[in-house]
Amino acid sequence: MRLTELAAYPTLVQHQKEIAPQRMRDWFVTESDRFERYSLQVNGILLDYSRNRINDTTLQLLLELAEQSDLKNRMIAMFKGDPINTSEQRAVLHTALRGNAVVTTSIRDMVASSKIKMQEIVEKVRSGKWVGVSGKPITHIVNIGIGGSHLGPKMALNALQDIAIKDIQCHFISSIDSAHVQDVLSLIDPTSTLFILSSKSFSTLETLTNANSILDWVTPTHREGILQEQFIAVTAQPSKAEALGIPTEHIIPFGEWVGGRYSVWSSVGLPLAIMLGYDRFTEFLAGAHAMDEHFRTAPFSQNMPVLLALLGIWYINFFDSPAHAIIPYADRLRYLIPYLQQADMESNGKSVDLNGHPISYRTGPIIFGEEGINGQHAYHQALHQGQLLIPADFILVASPTVSHHHSQHAITLASCLSQATALMQGKTANEALNDLLLAGLSQTDATNLAPHQVIAGNKPSNIIVLPRLSPDYLGALLALYEHKIFVQGVIWHINSFDQWGVELGKALLPTIHKQLQASNHSEQTIDSATAALANYLKGMSS
Ligand code: F6P
Repeated sequence: MRLTELAAYPTLVQHQKEIAPQRMRDWFVTESDRFERYSLQVNGILLDYSRNRINDTTLQLLLELAEQSDLKNRMIAMFKGDPINTSEQRAVLHTALRGNAVVTTSIRDMVASSKIKMQEIVEKVRSGKWVGVSGKPITHIVNIGIGGSHLGPKMALNALQDIAIKDIQCHFISSIDSAHVQDVLSLIDPTSTLFILSSKSFSTLETLTNANSILDWVTPTHREGILQEQFIAVTAQPSKAEALGIPTEHIIPFGEWVGGRYSVWSSVGLPLAIMLGYDRFTEFLAGAHAMDEHFRTAPFSQNMPVLLALLGIWYINFFDSPAHAIIPYADRLRYLIPYLQQADMESNGKSVDLNGHPISYRTGPIIFGEEGINGQHAYHQALHQGQLLIPADFILVASPTVSHHHSQHAITLASCLSQATALMQGKTANEALNDLLLAGLSQTDATNLAPHQVIAGNKPSNIIVLPRLSPDYLGALLALYEHKIFVQGVIWHINSFDQWGVELGKALLPTIHKQLQASNHSEQTIDSATAALANYLKGMSS
């Protein structure tokens, strides 16, 4: 059933009217146990959701909504590999890559054989036994991929760089902009570089074009050797990789049942596994598996992904909130934002339900953010005083990643808590006026300035605390968000696992590309504005 047809929906609409005028700052005065009541620890990760516009009734109603949406059965269907991606008739089994035991033997065998291959490559490269055309060990890795074949390994490697091997440098090429490609190529020696061509479909224009550009860039004497000895393909389409000339033993396949944006757990994670070592990569998978098990077995009222999802639904569907900020107060987690942007927006940016019928309620929010300290000196202004209600997830790492900077770490943690507190408390007109008078302003000046300093407050946020930035906690954090996104998709009654929206732009590209290259523009196959702009650009770039 669709969200608006669930029995709890109208009750929640009514309940929102009671909650909306109430202020969290007042609740914190009368309810000293909000943290105890509205926080939860799972496998070492803490979720503090006390700064939300909820009371026990809100939670109760949201939990009823989850029950009524048939979430339990949908979870069972996902974990056992039913084709819940209905528009593509595919199972959704990224959980199988990290130890989900509910799947069939054939899936388990495929996962196991991919892992063996991956582990062999990891060990060969790290030990220096994998040599390139000139007999030199690998000193650089270049991952060529985009979207899910790029964002996960890049984000995770950046997060865990402190435990990465120092003898190898890893680079990522995603954009087709030649400046980006050139920047990377200028840093590497092609004869000691391992190129990982990562593409689930093995038909993504950007990735294949970049791979060919790299092959064109190496000297003709080395081209064939590099393709044979220094290219690895990671794909669900091994025959296409073979057709490009990559030897079968250098192709690590994964199943169609791994969605691109859920693929960091598969052989798409190869650059990460090489840089961290296979054992640490296994810990990353294990952390995610622990979160899977929690999600699969915990009652909804104690289920971290379910609670996060329901809080999101509360604001998106009952407070009309259009966006959600992801704010890690940890520089190493800065690429988490684009990663979650794809995970969430490509999954839940949908307008029709599972049956293809248009839906009238909001679905996936705009996901945006920035590493916290930088963000608070920029767009946080709009969180505090803008007109939109934008809930935020603050992500904290309790222990400093770099051990000798404890004092800076304390400021980082305090900054995060200050932002969450400011969002919750705000500043009333009276408080603003009194502060200004205390600062020595005249009554007139203070009265004029005070309205500009009023901060509405009552802005919700969650605080997620990882004990430290380690492979297992990172794995658990990512799985937490994956499942949150899944739960929201179930409640919205949408397919979170297809991405037809990105196809139209791809389909238009050849025609527009042709228009940009054609000498004669009389034959117009695109709209007049696009044709005119294409001609304008052609004139500018020639
Ligand atoms: O265009 C979007 C997309 O299809 C994503 O879903 C995917 O992660 C990305 O492109 C890359 O796709 P592939 O791994 O098939 O090259």
